[in-house]
Parts: sequence; structure tokens; C-alpha cells
Amino acid sequence: MAIERTLSIIKPDGVEKGVIGQIITRFESNGMKPVAIRMQQLSRADAEGFYAVHKERGFFKALCDFMVSGPVVIMVLEGENAVLKNRDLMGATDPTKAAKGTIRADFAKSIDANTVHGSDSVENAKVEVAYFFRTTEQCAYEWKR
Ligand code: CMP
Repeated sequence: MAIERTLSIIKPDGVEKGVIGQIITRFESNGMKPVAIRMQQLSRADAEGFYAVHKERGFFKALCDFMVSGPVVIMVLEGENAVLKNRDLMGATDPTKAAKGTIRADFAKSIDANTVHGSDSVENAKVEVAYFFRTTEQCAYEWKR
């Protein structure tokens, strides 16, 4: 399996709830290493740019309003099959449909306030990581097999 990088965001509801540590623990205990982490208050331009792919969708304004409502934690996670693994750990976008034991099932309260974002493909992960982190801000991790 390939070592991949994926972008993860702990959204304002996760930060507000005080579950940053619990969420990062789930990543670490499932074989993913954070190689970049930053806490940030997104500007509206940051949020609209990041979610530009959704700009024609009816939920775009509510999504951006929510993403600027408080600080977020933005991370690059590295590990085997990281993109898919992160999505499995997050659970379905709509927390009412998320499998038991997933981050969204355990912490999220609505499809907007759904606690975490994760890249949906290796290709998009590259774009999303580059949106928030310069190469020099990402650390190298030496995997011991
Ligand atoms: P996220 O993984 O961050 O990607 C886009 C976000 O839009 C998604 O999580 C949800 O928080 C939000 N969203 C709101 N309504 C919808 C919807 N109907 N379909 C998909 N995403 C939605």
C-alpha cells in the first residue's frame, strides 16, 4: 500500500467542543502521522477559495458562514492509504448516516457542523494540502516497516 498525504480540518464545532486531542488521537492510533498542523481563523476568502468546487451548491453560503464562525485546526496526515483511511474514520458527511464509532457519528450534530473535513481523493488531497501548506511547512516522517 502506498504512503499518502491527505488534508484534514477540525471544523469550528470540533474546536468549540474541545475534542481536538481526541480526534488527533484517532488518527494517530490508526497509523496516520500529522506532518503539518496549524490552528487558524479562516477568512471568508480562505473558506470560499477552499470550497470553490461547491460554489454553485445551495449550501455554499451556510458552509462558508460556518467555517469562518471560529478557529479550525488544519492538518496534513501521512500514512498508508491515508486518504481512504481518513474518510473511514470520519464517517459519512451527514452525521445521521455516519457509521457507529466514526468521528462524525460521535461528535457531529448536523451536515454543516460535521466536525471534520477530509480530502476525497489522492488528486484532491494534493490540491487541498497545497492550498494551506507550503512544502517547507510539511515535515518528513521516516516510516519504519
Ligand atoms: P466537507 O467534507 O467539509 O465538504 C463540503 C461540506 O459541505 C461538507 O463537509 C458538509 O459540511 C457541507 N454540506 C452541507 N450540505 C451538504 C450536502 N447536501 N452535501 C454535501 N455537503 C454538504
